[in-house]
Order: sequence, then structure tokens, then C-alpha cells
Amino acid sequence: MPGSCRAGIVMVVKLPSTIRSVLVQTSRQTLDAGTGRSTDFSDARENQRRRGFVPRSPACEASFGSQIAFRIVLWRMTYPKFEALKPEPKSCSKNQELAGSLMHRAVLDTEGKYVMLWTPGEEDITFEIQVATKGYVGLGFSPNGGMAGSDIVLGWVTDGGEVMVQDSYATGYSQPLKDDQQDVELLGGYQNDTHTVLRFSRPWSTCDEQDFELSSDTVRVIWAIGSEDPAGDLMRRHDHRGTKSLTLKGPQFTLPKFSEDVKHWDVLSPNVTIPNNLTTLYWCKLFKIPPITRKTHVIGYVPIVQEGNHQHVHHILFYECHLEDSARHYEKWLDVQGAQCYGANMPISWKKCTSPLVAWAIGGEGEVLPDNAGFPIGEEHGGATYFMMEIHYDNPDLKEGVVDASGIRIFHTENLREHDAGVMMVGHVVTPIQIVPPNEKWVSVGHCDSSCTNKELPGSGVQVFQGLLHAHLLGRKLLLRQIRDGKELPIQLKDENYDFNYQQTRIFKDEMTILPGDSLITECYYDASKRNTPSFGGFGTEEEMCLAFLSYYPRVNLSICASQPHIDEILDGIDVEEVKNKDRILSVLLERGYVYIICLLLHM
Ligand code: HEM
Repeated sequence: MPGSCRAGIVMVVKLPSTIRSVLVQTSRQTLDAGTGRSTDFSDARENQRRRGFVPRSPACEASFGSQIAFRIVLWRMTYPKFEALKPEPKSCSKNQELAGSLMHRAVLDTEGKYVMLWTPGEEDITFEIQVATKGYVGLGFSPNGGMAGSDIVLGWVTDGGEVMVQDSYATGYSQPLKDDQQDVELLGGYQNDTHTVLRFSRPWSTCDEQDFELSSDTVRVIWAIGSEDPAGDLMRRHDHRGTKSLTLKGPQFTLPKFSEDVKHWDVLSPNVTIPNNLTTLYWCKLFKIPPITRKTHVIGYVPIVQEGNHQHVHHILFYECHLEDSARHYEKWLDVQGAQCYGANMPISWKKCTSPLVAWAIGGEGEVLPDNAGFPIGEEHGGATYFMMEIHYDNPDLKEGVVDASGIRIFHTENLREHDAGVMMVGHVVTPIQIVPPNEKWVSVGHCDSSCTNKELPGSGVQVFQGLLHAHLLGRKLLLRQIRDGKELPIQLKDENYDFNYQQTRIFKDEMTILPGDSLITECYYDASKRNTPSFGGFGTEEEMCLAFLSYYPRVNLSICASQPHIDEILDGIDVEEVKNKDRILSVLLERGYVYIICLLLHM
């Protein structure tokens, strides 16, 4: 390819996957030369930088309430130099103090046979499992949801009433082995005619290599139910087993007693039949805010999960929809029951519903905004008039006849809070020029550059009270870094075990301040080792994203602060040295997205 490119007719066609594959195969051969392949995430970012895929075009996008005006500023920047954060030394001290009453509850299976309750303490976490069996029970934490490599607490109650727990680990599909160091403390337990109930605690970090370190990251909890107690040192394989993603370190939620001015809006998605041939269903439905006579603030929400369906309703996202002339685009869909999200039947305009106001996932009880902030609703007041709710249903056992009407209850008031809150999207621009090559691990980086924050943020900055990290199916680890005056600040938002199927807002213990001049870097670590064709940025679940949604106050006009790689980097990356009609290509590029240019080059 070098030097042989001819920019002929610009072809506006979508790349067939075979051609895409050729593209990235070609690019990989070139890019890998002299750099070595990266399979380790820690090297991946550096490798990516060396390969020339450093995003160089940050974009600031300002939104002005209902009149959404886009002002996209593109300029070149280099990867900012800064003093990176040094890892904190790990504290391995153990606090034997017990936590209080149990705060959170989740049903882990679809039959309601396995219930887990837990309370996150400062140093320890206390669990109670209530399982419909008189045999053994297993509760584990796994790096990937599988049995192999997991850290398992095994427990049972003997016929004589003795309660047993054992800290174990699994090396494969065989009986788990007892840990050399026992880090689980039994707090109580019993067995009745139907159930085995166990309460125990363990430190978040045990400093034991045979244990899984628990944190605020998403964790794949695995569970197993045996029909018999172990006999001596031997036990039989489980009757039932499964996996569920959860975050264990959420704050305690108590719904305050609101004053009379606080009204609620129930956003429900009735009559959704969960198909018996899909293990996962994403169901989307459009809503319009209730009639309001004056400016109104949303100040919190609670989930409304239909009784009996807790094991199926896995997570709910509620997005603001912003399109100019929104009524024309959305009004007609309000009576439609809904559509499978991001599928062929979902109207295109729904894809513009991207700014999440609510992100609830199993285990979460709801949320109330800080006292001094509220999200305005209604376009005339700087918020959105139309919203899309996305519900993720789980049906691993392919049960038949499950019909659901779950949703959320949104609390709002005309008694306005001091500040309007907003959601700012930072990270990588959603564009097909974000390329994740097949058969390897990869990192995409999105910059919200200091020149953007300098221009758009007030002198005192903004206060971020919660964040949501977002990638699609390939996302494994996501984090947001903040740089001020050349120094990295402590990371407030990260997930080392990201699971697309379990996205939940992280409420910050201490609000994060973003000052003018700060830079934000969103890093997304992907695992495409099981994909044979490249993946591109886009809205479909098979396409990729790399974003962080930050809820903050006071609301400013900056709604998107993101970057994308410069076309020259991509061209360099696929070994194109010369391009004719570059101006023309650039104009098409801005209109259509870079993928078409790559397509054009490939047809030369
Ligand atoms: C004697 C003890 C055990 C044996 C022989 C055993 C064996 C196996 C085998 C053969 C499978 C694959 C087939 C299947 O899906 O059923 C499996 C899967 C699984 N096991 Fe076990 N198991 C044992 C104990 C446990 C315990 C205590 C847990 C506790 C959490 C557990 C969790 C799981 C999970 C979550 C899976 C499905 C995920 C995967 O395929 O890796 N197992 N086990």
C-alpha cells in the first residue's frame, strides 16, 4: 500500500466486515513492526501511543437548553505530560469489628432460591446467604464469572446443627481447595426444613493470594447450591450454579420523608414479555415528562421492580433525549409499547437519547441528589422533555411466560434547589474511527483537554457528585484520570472489572471538583481476543464506546468534552503515505465519519 493510494470516487458505503478485517490485518502488520504485540493491559496504552493512535482532536460541545447549538472546536494537541499518580501502599491490617445490620439484598438465581444480603463496612464486608437447600452452599468471587480461578466461601450446617464455613479457591471444575490462610469469620447460621442461612464476614483485602480482592469495582459473584453436605473431605458437584455481577461497596440509601411539594412520576414499561429464546433482553421505551407549569427539578429516584420479577430485572437506564425539534422526532413514539434496544426495529431518533439521568442496577436501592442540586426537566428550562428508558432483562434459564412492568419512580419538585445539575459526557467521540483491532487487547483513550475546561467552566469549577463509566461488550476496565497543573489527582471513578451488563452510577463519597484548566482522560481497556473482525465505535452493543458521564453542578453549557484520533494518525497506522484530494476527503470525513475514507482507501 505505501505510496500507491489514489483517491478516486468517494464511496459512501459501509465497510463489509471482510474488508474491515483486511484493513486492520494490514494495519496490524505495519503497526506491530518493531513494537512487539501487546497482550498485557499495562503495556497496551504505551504501545498504542507508540503505534500512533493517540487521540489528537478534542471537541468541546456546548448545549444551550432546548436550543441545542453545537459548537465543535477541533484542534491538535499532544498527549499531556503530567506526573502520574503513585499507587497507594496496601494496608493489610484487619479490623475484627462487626458491621451493623445488613444493608443490601440481591436475588442471585432466577428461581428466588439464593438470596444474598450484605453490608459494606470500612475494613470488612458482612454477608448473609439464605439458600433453599439442606445441603452445602457456595458463594464465590471470580475474575471472569467462571469457576476456575475463583475465591469461594463454602458453608453448610450439619445434621447436628454445627455451622461450618471454609475459605476455599477453585483451580478448575473440581472440588474447591481449602485456603492456606482462613480469612472468613463465621458470625452465625442455621438450617430449617427448607433453608440454610449463613452469616460471615471477610476483609475487603485479605493479603492472601488465594483470595479475590474486593473493592468498589464490579465483582462477578458466583454461587452454587449442593443437595447434600460434604461427606468428610469429599463433596459432590452442585445441583445449581450461576454468576451475577454486583457492586458491593455502595452507600446506604434511605428514602427521606419528602415534604408535600415533592411529587413523583412513575415511569413504567408495561406488558414486556421476556422471550424464552433469549438469555438477555434490552427493552427500550420512550417517555415524555408530565405536564409542568414552571421550572421543576428532579431530585431522586427509586426502582420499581415488579413483584416476583426481581431475578429478571437486572438494570435500568433512563436517558435524556436531545434532538432539535424534539416533538417532531419523539411525540409519535410515545404510545408505542417499546422496541428491542439498538436493534433493527428501534427508531433512529432514539439513539440520540444518550445522556443518562438514572443508572440503576440490581442491588441498588435508589438515589437522592445532594441537597443543593436538581436536574431541570423540560427543554424550556434547560433539561429534556423526552426520555428513553432501557431495561436489561436476564433470563438465563429461558423461562417461558415472564411478563414485566418494571421501571422507576422519579421524584421532582417546583421548590427549586440552589443549583441546576447537569450531565457532562467525557471520553472518546462516538465515531467509527475508534477502532479496536481483533484478536487482542486494546486501549482507547479520550481526552477532555484543559483548553476545553478553561473555556467553559466557571472560575470556581464544578462539583461532580456521581459518575457512570460506559463502554460496550468488549470493555473490561475503565477509568477516569484527572490532571491539574501537570499533576495527577487521586482517581475517583474506575472499574477494574467492568461489565456491560451491569452498569451502575457511582456516587462519590467526596465530591470531585473540576476546575478550569483541568484535563480529564478516560481510558478504556478492551478485550477483543475472541473477535475475528475489528470493532468500530458506534451505538450498537457490538460496536464500542469509551465514555464517562459525570453528574455535576452548577450546570454549564459544556455537555460533551471528548476527543478522537486525527485522520493522519489512522492513515499512518495503515501505512498510507500519500493521499490525493485530501481536502475533499476531509470534508467527506467530517460529514460521514472516517470509516468511509478508510473504505475509499481500500478500494484504490
Ligand atoms: C465438588 C465440587 C465441584 C465440582 C466437581 C464442580 C464442577 C463443575 C463443573 C464440571 C462445571 C461445568 C459444568 C456446569 O456448568 O455445571 C462447573 C461450573 C460451575 N461451578 Fe462448579 N463444581 C464444584 C463446586 C463449585 C462451588 C462450590 C462453586 C461455588 C460458587 C461452583 C461454581 C460454579 C460455577 C459458577 C460454574 C459455572 C461457571 C463456569 O462454567 O465456570 N462450583 N462446576
